[in-house]
Amino acid sequence: MPSVYIKTYGCQMNERDSETVAAQLVAKGYTLAPSEAGADVILLNTCSVRDAAEQKAIGKMQNLAAEMRKNRPDVVLGFMGCMAQSRGQQLIDKLPDVDLVIGTQKFHRTADYLDDILAGRQAKVVDIGEEQGSEATIREHILNGNTAEKSVTAFVSIMQGCNQYCTFCIVPYTRGEERSRTIPDIVSECRELVARGVKEITLLGQIVTSYGKRDVPIKEGKSGFVQLLEAVHEIEGLDRIRFTSPHPKGYGDDLVEAYGRLPKLVESAHIPVQSGSDRLLKIMHRGYTRERFLSIIDKLRRVRPRMGITTDIIVGFPGEAEADFEETLSLARAVEFDNAYIFKYSPRKDTPAAEMPEQLSKEIKEERNARLLQLVNEIAARRYEHYVGEQVQILVEGESRKNSARMMGRTRTNKIVVFDGSERHHGQLMDVKINRAGSFTLYGDPAIVNLD
Ligand code: SAH
Ligand code: F3S
Repeated sequence: MPSVYIKTYGCQMNERDSETVAAQLVAKGYTLAPSEAGADVILLNTCSVRDAAEQKAIGKMQNLAAEMRKNRPDVVLGFMGCMAQSRGQQLIDKLPDVDLVIGTQKFHRTADYLDDILAGRQAKVVDIGEEQGSEATIREHILNGNTAEKSVTAFVSIMQGCNQYCTFCIVPYTRGEERSRTIPDIVSECRELVARGVKEITLLGQIVTSYGKRDVPIKEGKSGFVQLLEAVHEIEGLDRIRFTSPHPKGYGDDLVEAYGRLPKLVESAHIPVQSGSDRLLKIMHRGYTRERFLSIIDKLRRVRPRMGITTDIIVGFPGEAEADFEETLSLARAVEFDNAYIFKYSPRKDTPAAEMPEQLSKEIKEERNARLLQLVNEIAARRYEHYVGEQVQILVEGESRKNSARMMGRTRTNKIVVFDGSERHHGQLMDVKINRAGSFTLYGDPAIVNLD
């Protein structure tokens, strides 16, 4: 049977989509190639959020096409995901060696289309249509990846799309309208994962706090998302629940309060803020103010004082004045994020912000990026340093990526901890004493249990 290699760009949703496509292909008899060398089919699962991500995938495809034309003309080349969705047929017009373009609602058709192409029934396929029910097609998992290690953590896609239409963002166009899976469907997928040894589940979506808005009625003041958290929390054998990404406007009191009574819900949240300036938040169409954001953080920390909080921030949005940027700096100082992913604004096709008159120069974006990064790193280093001397619980995920002689796990607050351990710790919840903080990594030793 043919072998497939999938290279993934972008966010965790893309990683998850690639995993599902890989699992569906394996179920059809395909094998997974460990690298592109020797693979019969090479698929690039693409990201459109910034221009750089698109250019990377296009550059990669150009190189692949040139090499395959010379040495292995029968290899099938394809684009999937967000850029496939937004550019469609154009991609084949520009890169005629590409055989397949699969949009974000058609991942589950990949195997059929590949069969057609490999059997010579079709030369090229472009499918970027909408498909009702496609949100429920991201379901299969490949636990254990390419290694013999058992998977301790898994990602579960709970919804597709986004209706927020932030003025800078291409996601609502590439991923479509918000569509949620049902609670029983999600819970049954989670149960299967736990039965296969998974201990921690991360619920995924572009705007998970809007989960079930249209289909799950509010019950006893609880949103569909909180009802879903409760249902997943019931699963016996599951130790931890995470989710990404929420939207600040989704942090109603029902969600804040859920942290107080659902112990499996870990004290960690990635809450994109984008800017600290009310003026810009409004133009970005974010739907909250700086004050509202600060009050959410405050409420969360009141329920869970050690809450690990990370965020996304855009610098150089059109018309961002120095005073707006300083509001962002002061918000970062006020919140003290555990980490912040900083993005230089990148104009995206057909989004309102791309048409705004006051586009800023590359130099201003670079300069603000550097200033904010320095502040974020200083604060993060302090927050990591706080852990030294403390005992914390980690879930051991496997070998340390940088040093396979050591093991790694994550704290509930989502910090990586590297320690001297062995395979017997794999998949365990254990306590470690932190003795050193490095750059976004903690180092520790298994805590000695005091038996008296
Ligand atoms: N809700 C989504 C957001 C996807 S985009 C999620 O799951 O995180 C991820 C981040 O990219 C956004 O939070 C934003 O900070 C950044 N981003 C989005 N569009 C951008 C653009 N046009 N230029 C620069 N950064 C952008
Ligand atoms: Fe994009 Fe805003 Fe939705 S950042 S994914 S439009 S919440």
